Amino acid sequence: MIEKILVADDDPLMLRFSLETLVRQGKEVVTAKNGAEAIQRLQEEPFDLVICDVKMPHKSGFDVLHAARTLYPSCLVILMTAQGSIESAVEAMRLCAFNYLVKPFSPEALETCLEKAEEHIRLLKENRFLKDEKNGKLIAESPGMQRILQDIEKVAKSQASVFITGESGTGKEVIAGAIHHLSTRSSAPFIKVNCAAIPDALVEAEFFGHERGAFTGAHMRKTGRFELADKGTLLLDEVTEIPLSLQPKLLRAIQEQEFERIGGVRPIKVNIRFLAASNRSMQEAIEMKAIREDLYYRLNVIPIHIPPLRERPEDIMPLAHYFLEKTCVENHKPLKRFGEKAIQKLLSYNWPGNVRELANIIERTIVLDFGPEIDAEHLYLDSLVLEKKSPSSASLPLGLPLHEVEKRLILETLEVHHHNRTKTASVLGISVRTLRNKLHKYGVFTKP
Ligand SMILES: Nc1ncnc2c1ncn2[C@@H]1O[C@H](COP(=O)(O)OP(=O)(O)OP(=O)(O)O)[C@@H](O)[C@H]1O
Ligand SMILES: [Mg+2]
Repeated sequence: MIEKILVADDDPLMLRFSLETLVRQGKEVVTAKNGAEAIQRLQEEPFDLVICDVKMPHKSGFDVLHAARTLYPSCLVILMTAQGSIESAVEAMRLCAFNYLVKPFSPEALETCLEKAEEHIRLLKENRFLKDEKNGKLIAESPGMQRILQDIEKVAKSQASVFITGESGTGKEVIAGAIHHLSTRSSAPFIKVNCAAIPDALVEAEFFGHERGAFTGAHMRKTGRFELADKGTLLLDEVTEIPLSLQPKLLRAIQEQEFERIGGVRPIKVNIRFLAASNRSMQEAIEMKAIREDLYYRLNVIPIHIPPLRERPEDIMPLAHYFLEKTCVENHKPLKRFGEKAIQKLLSYNWPGNVRELANIIERTIVLDFGPEIDAEHLYLDSLVLEKKSPSSASLPLGLPLHEVEKRLILETLEVHHHNRTKTASVLGISVRTLRNKLHKYGVFTKP
């Protein structure tokens, strides 16, 4: 719903006319006499809609449009242009104005424009946060991510396997989801298996399913992920965590598009497009024999590497704004904005936890609610935690049994490294598999 509107015009009569029309519609309206004043109002508080004249002294309507879109990406802007100036109307649309009104206009024209804007916002809210959540909204402004988008549009239509690599939290699952949704399989299922989250002994049953009574404890028939993914896409997430002993069987099933349920006698035919993801260096994973070379090459027909967030700073603010808006809506809070210092802080941080860390930090700030403007000190960046809690300074009380010391050390190291298992394992000098087994023993499941 549009509640608060900012109207800017240097013509006092026009300003009054717009004000009265909008107030009659039950809107809360703030007015500004020129562009500079409008920008100042915008900096003070958010608006749902800005209606402003193009030609104004001290900053034009285009400047106001730019300020509004930068400060509040979801704010709609309607520009008012003089008759006969098609160029301004075109420029307005190019700069992503929502609409334009040619002066002079009737109260009805303004009301219709307002209705359209309300409809637009309603649809946005409905779609963006319900539908896109499912499909995974993908922010990609940086050249690096733009290139990836172009690649996946081409790749999606093929049946080739795609191997997605990138640090933890860079958006591998989001990209995998996008490939599925852009493919000809988009109406069929998109099934994910997080291979690191399943205990070794259960992986096979998870993939292929089992018949009733196939082994002790198999009380019912189980449908595996392969069967569920038939005609669709199957994402093998953290693929290096698949037990080595199962990999030949998996490779065969991928190649033949055929497998048997455990305890089953009949082969089951499927038609699956495979995607794989990993946050490990694949060269190292192959050297360490975490993944068989033949399986890797079968899955790595098309490699896509997602750069870490610190290497694509152009994405930081668009992502920050997206998470800000999404979290405000989800938490029923009025839309907030970032202060200048906060923006500087976000841009200068190195984001070891990548996009996931950014999303978490914004969510924390919104939930703690420091008022309409987010200041630098409201952003608890984890580097501070990292400094305070660097592994070397971790102190453990004496008198603990050794296994307890080990457990605490592992959990703290994991925390410091944002639950990145690869990093944690390498710092501790153990394999990812060993780490995973230990965590499993503690009953800890790291973040999916
Ligand atoms: N480009 C993007 N646009 C919007 N949201 C994103 C983008 N990239 C990542 N995210 C969000 O960041 C979070 C982490 O992304 P995702 O789970 O895809 O990362 P990942 O690379 O699979 O991480 P991990 O290796 O830890 O599994 C998710 O909440 C996701 O929605
Ligand atoms: Mg993932």
